Amino acid sequence: MAGDYDLVVVANRLPVDRVEEADGTTSWRRSPGGLVTALEPVMQREDGAWIGWAGTHGEPPEPFDAVGVRCVPVGLSADEVEDYYEGFSNGTLWPLYHDVIVAPTYHRRWWEAYVRVNERFAQAAAEQAAEGATVWVQDYQLQLVPRMLRRRRPDLRIGFFNHIPFPPFEIFAQLPWRGAILDGLLGADLVGFQRPADASNFLRACRRAIALPARQSLVRLPDEGGRQVRAASFPISIDAAALDEMARREDIQERAREIRRDLGDPQYVLLGVDRLDYTKGILHRLKAFEELLSDGRIQVGEAALVQVATPSRERVEQYVQLRQDVEVTVGRINGTYAEIGKTPVQYLHHSYGREEMAALFLAADVMLVTSLRDGMNLVAKEYVASRYDERGALVLSEFTGAADELGQAIMVNPHDIDGLKDAVVRALHMSPREAARRMRAMRRRVREHDVQRWAATFLEALERPGAENTEIDLTSAGSEVAP
Ligand code: ADP
Ligand code: G6P
Repeated sequence: MAGDYDLVVVANRLPVDRVEEADGTTSWRRSPGGLVTALEPVMQREDGAWIGWAGTHGEPPEPFDAVGVRCVPVGLSADEVEDYYEGFSNGTLWPLYHDVIVAPTYHRRWWEAYVRVNERFAQAAAEQAAEGATVWVQDYQLQLVPRMLRRRRPDLRIGFFNHIPFPPFEIFAQLPWRGAILDGLLGADLVGFQRPADASNFLRACRRAIALPARQSLVRLPDEGGRQVRAASFPISIDAAALDEMARREDIQERAREIRRDLGDPQYVLLGVDRLDYTKGILHRLKAFEELLSDGRIQVGEAALVQVATPSRERVEQYVQLRQDVEVTVGRINGTYAEIGKTPVQYLHHSYGREEMAALFLAADVMLVTSLRDGMNLVAKEYVASRYDERGALVLSEFTGAADELGQAIMVNPHDIDGLKDAVVRALHMSPREAARRMRAMRRRVREHDVQRWAATFLEALERPGAENTEIDLTSAGSEVAP
């Protein structure tokens, strides 16, 4: 039976998480990560439904409205949180799709849970979508949903967007269930990726793993009457205007000044903002900073590094290890170099509201984005969108999707610690004139390619399957790679 909504988004997470307080009451908190940052403003403007998990195990709450969005919860049992979410999604797929920075684990039990939970999301979408509706499935946790949904509801238009990289076939080939994953994705009419390279990796996997004819951006399915699936890139973005507006507010600027004062008024403030994830290169960044202190190229008191690290996937082994490593490293740097009233690294293992984030961006002379692999990295775009004053420098890893668009950043290979150190010093000493020139160009890009445009472009391509390839025009982005 069809539901009421003409647009249904299906994502592992709802825009808000249910939090159980110590006194037994429940409250709602904004969910972590870039997917929610990007989709929330889009869905606030649409009269659609958002299907997702509420972040805790057990019976799902009834559908409700939050942050201006209709939320339809899907429940996960404690075992499913372990096997589907922590296991297959974040112990198998996440590392596999991020250049195997840590080794992926393959367990048949995890896969079975992934299949079962994907069926549940597909069923929920089938129940909410109106006749002929558009359903937009999000990210690596739900790659089987397009096929499962098409079986239930062939009347729907189905789009899929992968927020994280899609790996080269040589890596993807490790996955014992690679054929089933590709078949799941091919249930969609349009499969979107962050970068052109991700789309071509996917097309190549279709050719190599399941011998399907895939030419240019189209895969043809001979068993489905020659139905064609389009794969293309749609680089995601942020609500740039909203962030620009927030950063211009006097109270946010005052808070930014206060942050600098509380840090002891150093000449330079460096900032890192990440989920505490091994893909983000936090240890590489800390190593570069530590060596700059030990080399005497920066002095304690002259520069302070603020590292905000949102708690993430805290029961997954590699994340437990990373947290320990980061905390030991920060402790060592501060123990070695701190003086009374001068702390070189401020490590904040919390989540903050948007206003505090905007103030932090304004307070930072240098933003450090050193991911070892990252689908997009919205933090880089948020920093740029906040700097209405055209000040500040962005040090940006080549291995982010954002690097395709923000060619005026100081590009780094985070594995090259000497190169990273030079880039940081260069950012610290950049003339205001050069910083403004670079920031202006990056701001133009982010303003013109905001998240509303991203969503509109994707949804339009989904409605018009025969349209021209929608891949990003990279010729205008330019790119500078540090020598
Ligand atoms: P990912 O999706 O891998 O976490 P992104 O950089 O694309 O990486 O998106 C992260 C989002 O989470 C951004 O919108 C960023 O502002 C937000 N964020 C990251 N850390 C924090 C934090 N400590 N408090 C609040 N928001 C955070
Ligand atoms: C990335 C992923 C999202 C995910 C987010 C937060 O942005 O692409 O799908 O929601 O990280 O991770 P979490 O595991 O907490 O949902």
